This record gives sequence, C-alpha cells and structure tokens, in this order.
Amino acid sequence: MSPIRMRARENSIIALGIFCLAAAACHRHRPAPPPPAGPEALLADVVDPWTWRRGADPADPQAAARQHAIEDIGPFERVRSGDPTSPLVNTNADYWTRLVGVAWDRDVDLDLEDVPVDLDGDGRPDTTVTRHVHAKGGVLANPELFGLTRTPDDPRGRVGRVSVSTGVLGLREPLGADGKPTGQIGMTCWLCHGEANPADGQIVLGLPGVKFDYGLLLATAAVLDDKNAEAAAERRRRGFPPGRLVRARLLLAGPGRQDLTGEFGLDVTVPGVHSLRYAGTARVRQGTHGLVNPISVPAILAAPGMALENWSGSESSRSPWLEKNVGLIGGQDGEAARRALMFDLRNLGTLGLQQDSFPGLLWADAITGHAQISAKALADVPAWYAAASVRAMLAVRFARPPVNAAAAARGRALFAERVAGRIANRQILKEPPRSPAAADLDGPVMAPIDPTQPLSARVAVRCADCHSAAPLETVVALADHPPPLGRCSHCHRAHPRLSEWASIRAASVDPRQLPISALPAGPTPAAEVAFCEGCHARHRDFGPLVYSSSRLFPFDADGDGDAQLAPERDRRAGGIGTDPWLAFDVPRSQWPFSVPLAVLTSSGRRARVAEAGASTGAAWVRVAPLLGLAASAPYLHDGSVPTLRALLDPPARRPAAFPLGQAGFVFDTRLPGNGNQGHDFGTNLTDAEKADLVEFLRSL
Ligand code: HEC
Ligand code: HEC
Ligand code: HEC
Ligand code: HEC
Repeated sequence: MSPIRMRARENSIIALGIFCLAAAACHRHRPAPPPPAGPEALLADVVDPWTWRRGADPADPQAAARQHAIEDIGPFERVRSGDPTSPLVNTNADYWTRLVGVAWDRDVDLDLEDVPVDLDGDGRPDTTVTRHVHAKGGVLANPELFGLTRTPDDPRGRVGRVSVSTGVLGLREPLGADGKPTGQIGMTCWLCHGEANPADGQIVLGLPGVKFDYGLLLATAAVLDDKNAEAAAERRRRGFPPGRLVRARLLLAGPGRQDLTGEFGLDVTVPGVHSLRYAGTARVRQGTHGLVNPISVPAILAAPGMALENWSGSESSRSPWLEKNVGLIGGQDGEAARRALMFDLRNLGTLGLQQDSFPGLLWADAITGHAQISAKALADVPAWYAAASVRAMLAVRFARPPVNAAAAARGRALFAERVAGRIANRQILKEPPRSPAAADLDGPVMAPIDPTQPLSARVAVRCADCHSAAPLETVVALADHPPPLGRCSHCHRAHPRLSEWASIRAASVDPRQLPISALPAGPTPAAEVAFCEGCHARHRDFGPLVYSSSRLFPFDADGDGDAQLAPERDRRAGGIGTDPWLAFDVPRSQWPFSVPLAVLTSSGRRARVAEAGASTGAAWVRVAPLLGLAASAPYLHDGSVPTLRALLDPPARRPAAFPLGQAGFVFDTRLPGNGNQGHDFGTNLTDAEKADLVEFLRSL
C-alpha cells in the first residue's frame, strides 16, 4: 500500500468515524435499519474473506496454513446490521481504523506534562505522567518506536491472498470483496504474540511481543483526542474519563503488557457500535472504575498442552461447556479436542475483545447458552478465525539460545531436587477433583498441597513441585515414560495408608494418609520411582514438561478473604506473594472482596469435603509455563522483573525501575499493580547455583 494513498483515504475515514462517534447523530441522518430478527440474523451479515477465491491455494499445505494464520484478520460485516445496502467492511480493520482511529500513518504528537493518574481507583493520584512522543508519519513509519517487529520476508505492500502486508508483524490491510486494498488496517494475534527470536533473529509466532507497546499504540487513537468535540462529549455522557487521562494511563502500561478486558476505557468509547448489536458484548465490556492493571503477554506456544489458560487460569479445559463443542472441531480424541477448542475459544474471545470481531463473541455466547443459534451456524464460525492454522504455527519448534550444557544439567538438578522455599499449604483447584464427595461441587475449591498437613502449615517446595504437570489424560506405561523431572513426589505428597504400612508412624491431619517421605522408598529420585513403580505400572501422560498450568495459588494466603488490602500479611503467611492486583474487576469501593470456597481434604480422587469452608480474596495466579523464557523477559504476570537472574534475587534487591522499549518508557515497580515482590523461591542459592539454574531456564 502506498503511504500517500493510505493517508488520503485514512483522513476521510477518520472524519467519518468522528462524525459517527455519537451513534445517535449518525442514525438521525439515515432510515433506521430493520431490527435484527434474533442472533442468527446477525450471522447472516458475516462473510468469511477466505471464501472469496483469488487464485489457487499454494500447493504446499504448510505454506498455506502459514499464510492463513498470518493473514487472519477475521470476517467482514455490514456496517449496519440487516441493511444489505450498507458497506461490507472487515470488522477488525474497520474498528481500529475508522472507529477508533489509531494513527497508522497520521503524525503522532503526544505531549503529557505532569498529568496525575489514579491507578488503583481510590480517588487519589498514584503518580504523574510526563512524556513527549512525536512520530512523524505515525505507527507504520516508526515501527521501532512502537516496538513492532519488522517482517523482511513479508515486505510492506506485498499482496497476499486476503490482505496486504504492512511490513510489520501483526498488522494487515484487508483486501475487499473486489480484491482491492481497503485502506484500513487490522491487528492479528501476532501483534502481541509474535517476536524475533533473540537466539537467531527469526520471527517466531507464539513468542510474546515483549517490545511491542500496545498502550502507546492505543494512545494515538483519535477517539482519545479531547479536541475531538463529539468524542469528548460522548465520553462525558458515558461517564468515562477525559481522553488525556486515558492516554496518560495507557502510557503507564509499557511494552509487552496490556490489559485484555478494560483497554483502559478505550473500546467502550466507540459507543453502541457493536454492543447494541450483539447482546453478549455488554457482558465483556466493563466500566472504568475497577482496577485495570496491565498484565504481561505470555508465550502461547503449543498451547494444546495446557489445562488452564491465562495468568489467573481463567480458562479451563475441564469447563463443562467445552463438552458441547468437542464435535465441532472433529477428528480428535476427546481430551485433545477440549484443549484445542479451549485455545480456539481463547482465540475467538481475544479477537472479539481486541479486534471487535463480535461474531466470535456471539459464538462464545451460543456455546455458553447466552444466545441461541443453529448448530450449523455454530459450526461455521471456527473457520472464520483460522484457528486450526493458528495452532499449526504455534507447534513449530524454534531455536533456543546456546547454553553451557554442563551448567544447564546442574541447573536442572537444582530445579528438580533442591528445596527452593516454603509456601502456605493452600492451593485453588479450578475444578473439583473427580472424587465422589466433590461431585456436587462446582467452581473453584481449596485443597491442601500436602494432605497430611493442616492448611495453615508451610510446606517445603522444590521448583519442580510447582513447575511440572501431568496434563494429558492418555495413560502410558511408567517404564517407558518416567516422570520427566525424576520424582513421583513432585506431585504426590501423600499416599493412602495401606495395610502393609500399618506399622509406620507419621504425623498426618488425615489419618487415612501417610506422607510419601515416611514410606520405605530410597532417598534418591531413581529409588523413589522404582519403589512406586513396584505397585503402579501406568500413569497419565506427563506431556511437555514446561506446561505447569495445573496449579493455582491464592494471593490470599492467610485466608482473611482479602488479598489486596494487605498483601504483606499474605506474604508473611507464606503466600506466593506476587502483586495481587491481577483481579482488575473488583472496584475499590467493593473492597475487601472475597469468594466463599469449599475446602477439600486433598486434591486427589479420595478427597472429602472438609467440615468448614473458607473464603479467599478473588485473585489467584496460575503457575507460569516455563517455555521460551529466554525470549520473554520481563517476568511474572505483571512483567515486573527484568531478568531471570533478578528473579532469583530477594525482592528488595530486584531492580526498582528499569527501561523497556524504545520510546522512553521506564517500568516503575513501586506503582500499584507493578509490584516486583513475591516468588522468593531460590533466592537463597549461591551465585554459582543461580547461574546454573538460569542456564537451565534459558534452555527451555
Ligand atoms: C493486544 C495484545 C493481544 C492480542 C492481539 C492477542 N493476545 Fe492473546 N494474550 C494477550 C495477553 C495480555 C494475554 C494474557 C491474558 C491473561 O492472562 O489474562 C494473552 C493470553 C493468551 C493465551 C493464553 C496463554 C497462556 O499462557 O495461558 C492464548 C492461548 C492467547 N492469548 C491466544 C491468542 C490468539 C490466538 C490471539 C489472536 C486471535 C491473541 N491471543 C491475540 C495479549 C494479546
Ligand atoms: C508432574 C506431576 C506428577 C508426577 C511427577 C507423578 N504424578 Fe501421578 N498423577 C498426577 C496427576 C495430575 C494425576 C491425576 C490426579 C487426578 O486425576 O485427580 C496423577 C494420578 C496418579 C495416580 C492415580 C491414578 C488414577 O487413575 O487414579 C497414581 C497411582 C499415580 N499418579 C502414581 C504416580 C507415580 C507412581 C508416580 C511416579 C512414578 C507419579 N504418579 C508421578 C501427576 C503426577
Ligand atoms: C505396595 C504397593 C504400593 C506402593 C509401593 C505404592 N502404591 Fe500408590 N497405591 C497403592 C494402592 C493399593 C492404591 C489404592 C489405595 C486406595 O485407593 O485405597 C494406591 C493409590 C495411589 C494413588 C491414588 C491416591 C488417591 O487419592 O486416589 C497415588 C497418587 C499413588 N498411589 C501414588 C504412589 C506413589 C507416588 C508411590 C511411591 C511413593 C506409590 N503410590 C507407591 C499401592 C502402592
Ligand atoms: C509454590 C510454587 C512455585 C515454586 C516452588 C516455584 N514457582 Fe516459579 N512460579 C510460580 C507461580 C505461581 C508463578 C507465576 C507468578 C506470577 O506471575 O505472579 C511462577 C513464575 C515463575 C517464573 C516466571 C515465568 C514468566 O513467564 O514470567 C519463573 C522463571 C519461575 N517461576 C521459575 C521458578 C524457579 C526457577 C523456581 C525454583 C527456584 C520456582 N519457579 C519455584 C510458582 C512456583
């Protein structure tokens, strides 16, 4: 696309967008469209651009899948639902270009001088923002400034099957039904989930876009311009903060991070465009009064191995509603299909949230029973999002940095064997175990990590006790598939008391359980496994070791139901201790906020429901999958620790502030939601041991 043509078109598009910002004003000048006749009628307006045949598919299916994945910008829709005379636009590109008005090639001038920002919603400013960003020619003329990844193999202007390349990863210009460039730009998954591999410079789809400054990109939006009178009036009418304030907030997020749900009030400022149309969107749009902390973008490689997704574990492959849809993707065994589908939904939901392709939400709504659409319409939707080709791209192996093999082997042994710290004996199970007693429970429950000890105990843990999982339901022979990190007791801390062990004396809060450490197994990992294998020959597949998404830890370790008001108390009580403001949904005015939970006696099939329940603060965090770590700094869910080595330092010695990206951004760990505390594991190792451990982590 030529920048000149683009500019001319974009200007008129933006003018139209600003004019239409007040939805009421737009409608006044047109006959009202007929009301949509149920959700299915909405889908009738949706067109999959891949059905517009433009030449034969490339013969190489791998290349075709790659093209499909990279160019996937979702479907086209009528601007006015149910009105066949209204223009057909790519929902995603139209949203960002016409409605939101991101400065793809408009000059950017952001001048913020001491603008106060209240991050935690308590009505008092937590910091002020002073930043001056000037980018002539906008986002596309200054990709480095925005942390975008250039794509030399896919240069700007190259026409693909359904879009034109912008020359940077994750931004595409869709071709219209007539095959001509639309002049609008849309975002794909790779904007946030793609990056050049530091090991060899190759672009890897699935690595987090750690340099990409999504907040800066959004801050260029025309709807945030307070000189845009109609936009400003609309913001006031809906009770949203002024554009300048939202910009200041966005500029505080920094590269590699963004908030999926709130978008700092940006998406809700294009009023009535889609939320009027799709009932479900009202559900995902939230106000601007809760906490809207940016979180760091995770690696999403080989995601089908995951049992829980997102930092909070908010998506679970055990969710009952996934069951309904296993048939939709077909051809796979049940468990694999559930995992793949969870990823597809993630995909669709993300498209819906980030790119405003609302058919995805409608689809998700239909699945969860919030909207009724026919089975055929439901089955058609996944194709619009190229989810299968996206998954295929994520499974591709990528180069790891060269590591010192001997040091990495020593690091691996430390990871598997050394006690790294102590933690409160509490974990959250997203779904209750398949135990008869827990059969009637739904939603999250609490269970001890070690069922032989009380919930209030601190249990000693190795890295591998948390960062390992056996996620796959397929059952395999233990002789051929030993536990990848060498011990059964990384995951099983107690054993039902068998009659042959009647003489063993060991303390246990549950008289039916014995600590594994009390069993007559040898001390070495090999002896332990041999002992256990004597009676257990088969096991569920351990899957890829790096997926440790099976455990959730509550921030509220002392169980007072309040995770956010006094995080130091929870740290002292042995909590995971990282910044607890992952729950951005709860408005400050509703603090303290907690959810009641059933307590189980263990996390296994023999679990019983304990007499007393518990309550816990609304936020918990999933054990991070350790994959592609070398390419995904900064670390922790809020991206508050700049290097792996710093994560092994006590929090007080981790850097309090560090630069990120290329636009003058400094990450300040002292701001609410940015804390770098907690996860103290391994901080007492020697310097040499830490170096070995880092070498191992870099190899994953
Ligand atoms: C604007 C940035 C952005 C875009 C675009 C984006 N994501 Fe994400 N993605 C995120 C962030 C941030 C998270 C972490 C969210 C959380 O923890 O709540 C995430 C989480 C995920 C996860 C879960 C990973 C894990 O470790 O559990 C998957 C899978 C995922 N995204 C897939 C996709 C797909 C597929 C697309 C394209 C359809 C996409 N994302 C587009 C930012 C983005
Ligand atoms: C990385 C974690 C992990 C390791 C290591 C591990 N397991 Fe498991 N094991 C699990 C999970 C997860 C389950 C399923 C629990 C459930 O379904 O509630 C399980 C279940 C079991 C069960 C119950 C099977 C059933 O169908 O009820 C036995 C027995 C078992 N494991 C034995 C072992 C033995 C012996 C070893 C060492 C050779 C071992 N495990 C190592 C995670 C692990
Ligand atoms: C002497 C034989 C024997 C040995 C050795 C043995 N187990 Fe078991 N294990 C059993 C039996 C029998 C059961 C079923 C007990 C029951 O359901 O009451 C069982 C059950 C289990 C369960 C399921 C617990 C539950 O709550 O459903 C796990 C997990 C397990 N064993 C792990 C191990 C591990 C790990 C080791 C090695 C430390 C080990 N076993 C060693 C015989 C053995
Ligand atoms: C009690 C369980 C537990 C133990 C033990 C544990 N971790 Fe973690 N780890 C977590 C959780 C939970 C997170 C996510 C925390 C967050 O983001 O707030 C995490 C995050 C991480 C991360 C950051 C990953 C990312 O993508 O940002 C690394 C690296 C890591 N752990 C390495 C280790 C090492 C090395 C050890 C041993 C020295 C260890 N962990 C011990 C639970 C544990």
